[in-house]
Amino acid sequence: MNRITVSAPGKLMLLGEHAVVDNHPCLVTAVDQRMRVTVEILDILEFQLEAMDVNVTGYRKPLRELGVGDIPKGAKFVEIAIKNINEKYPIKTGLKITTTSEFSSQFGFGSSSASTVCVVKALSQLLKLKLTNKEIFDISYKTVLDIQGKGSGFDVGAAVYGGTLYFVTGGKMIEPLKIRSLSLIVGYSGVKADTVTLMNNVKVTFANKQDRLTKIYNDIEDLVNQAKVVLVKGDLKTFGELMNKNQKYLQELGVSIDKLDNMIKGALAAGAYGAKLSGAGGGDCMIAISPENKEKEVERRIKQAGGEIIDVATNAEGVRIES
Ligand code: MEV
Repeated sequence: MNRITVSAPGKLMLLGEHAVVDNHPCLVTAVDQRMRVTVEILDILEFQLEAMDVNVTGYRKPLRELGVGDIPKGAKFVEIAIKNINEKYPIKTGLKITTTSEFSSQFGFGSSSASTVCVVKALSQLLKLKLTNKEIFDISYKTVLDIQGKGSGFDVGAAVYGGTLYFVTGGKMIEPLKIRSLSLIVGYSGVKADTVTLMNNVKVTFANKQDRLTKIYNDIEDLVNQAKVVLVKGDLKTFGELMNKNQKYLQELGVSIDKLDNMIKGALAAGAYGAKLSGAGGGDCMIAISPENKEKEVERRIKQAGGEIIDVATNAEGVRIES
């Protein structure tokens, strides 16, 4: 075999963002919009990358220079993932990687983590490394930390395992939840958010209020634990109420923005059980859960507030080999 294509799902955070970076649990669901990565073996000892979605074309360098020099932003995750594999399992052939995405890298669906996971899975298969899902998670999470310096790895977990997960920082716990399908309404704010900047903003805002931050994170953990139980039971009304409580804490953390708040207000006014931002905040997407007969009106009100509805199914399959 000298060519393989692998895909992995994007993700949406259901509850627990920010707190999860600080050793608390969160709930995350994988979405059916996927990242696709093709890896081909080359005769020359080069790393080549085509990643049109993130404006990288014709990128190439000798394998021995992996991770060295200025790496374009769009190439970082793939290149460092290969470097990390190479350090553990020396690679003796050149590689051409092509990535394509079913979703915009602007949505905050975790395209970087999903492509990292695809690369690790593809190389495990091509080089016959027989990596387990946990080993794929660990190499991919290390890659994210090497580049971003921080992050919980929940997006990596969703890309590897798929489904809906109760996830604790760094994969200390990755528990797949048995839920029936979860119908989420997703509204994109049109504003691009930078996760690391938002995490740093929270740190700065609460530099002198550490006790309050600890209390908020403990309270969010309680919400996540309650939400896990009601989600498995299929009690979406209570789940929605817990989302609303979580959103209040996210506002207090200072990571919501007017645009998201207005989209959320619109969704609730239209009869949604609950609505909140999803992810780091500062932009990206909000999510809402609604009685079925009110979904259309919820969508209309989100659009009225300037949001774009993104059509996704939740609980999607984790990383898989396509061909
Ligand atoms: C970002 O989508 C969610 C955060 O909790 C960061 C992380 O968990 O890595 C803010």
